[in-house]
Amino acid sequence: MTQQLNFATALLAWYDTHQRVLPWRTASPDPYKVWLSETMLQQTTVATVKGYFEKFTTRWKTVKDLADAPLDDVLHAWQGLGYYARARNLHKTAKMVAEQYGGVFPDTEEELRKLAGIGAYTAAAIASIAFNQRAVVVDSNVERIIARVFAVEKPVSQAKKQIWALTDSITPQQRAGDFAQSMMDLGSLICTARAPKCLMCPVNSLCAAFGQHAVEQYPVKPVKQPRPTRYGAVLWVENEKQEVWIRKRPPTGLLGGLMEIPSTDWLATPVESNAALGLLPSSVMTEILNKPVTHTFTHFHLVLTIVKATVAGVPPLESGEWLAVEALPQKAWSTLMKKVLGVGGCRRASAH
Ligand code: ADE
Repeated sequence: MTQQLNFATALLAWYDTHQRVLPWRTASPDPYKVWLSETMLQQTTVATVKGYFEKFTTRWKTVKDLADAPLDDVLHAWQGLGYYARARNLHKTAKMVAEQYGGVFPDTEEELRKLAGIGAYTAAAIASIAFNQRAVVVDSNVERIIARVFAVEKPVSQAKKQIWALTDSITPQQRAGDFAQSMMDLGSLICTARAPKCLMCPVNSLCAAFGQHAVEQYPVKPVKQPRPTRYGAVLWVENEKQEVWIRKRPPTGLLGGLMEIPSTDWLATPVESNAALGLLPSSVMTEILNKPVTHTFTHFHLVLTIVKATVAGVPPLESGEWLAVEALPQKAWSTLMKKVLGVGGCRRASAH
């Protein structure tokens, strides 16, 4: 117990003098800004989030302002941050807070978890940082630190419960929000994944891995699973007015609800271009570009063949719309589709 108190005390003392200056860290944190920053930071680095955070909070100063914005504006402003489900949930939650909570964020983990896109981590982070509640905040930095401090013998993916309980055991009653952020800063500045700076660490005397001269053995590495490759084809269809046929992806699933140049399903074996051509009437002239687009998602690599076709006026597919080539950059595109625009449009249409 004394060890545990020592840990929080030593870390908070270090945080008071070494914390990173970040735009969402203010003397009295605004729950809207804490929620926005935590949502942006879920899968994105601090360096990237800073600019987006400034842009969003300048444009939408309160959660009500964000709730009143059209979803397309929010998606457009989110462009480049990736994982667009986050932007949809952001807008949905803004509406819920504005309409069901009178524009005031709920202050308990339990209530926060009822909002869209707020899981265990984000609810704990908001409750502790914005509302000074004691909550156990576990993100990937915390997992790595805990794995080292307690010399956890399993890979973190198999030790989630144990890591949560160990984090609980060292989380102080007071300043839980600062404690959570001090763990993040320690993980980012000192207890880094590679080449940790143990000699500068304020809690090295309490770290089991350091004590055993075995820091590089923790977190224990999982056995690597290979990342499979999937294949698909996109149809770049133009008409005589230099308009391109685009459509919206189904609302759920990867890149859900975003615009796309129509694509076949993504399958485990290379797609015969004919499969893509099957989406078009056989009378249409086509050209298969010899430069495929490749993209890596979290769980697979994707190789997309681009099939170009020119049609005379008739919409070639069931759903979608024509859009002038020059207007393509104005839409919200995924990073994958930006690559397709670069190749398919031969740079005429590549989004910035
Ligand atoms: N990553 C996620 N939340 C963070 C925060 N509040 N400060 C720094 N990095 C973070």
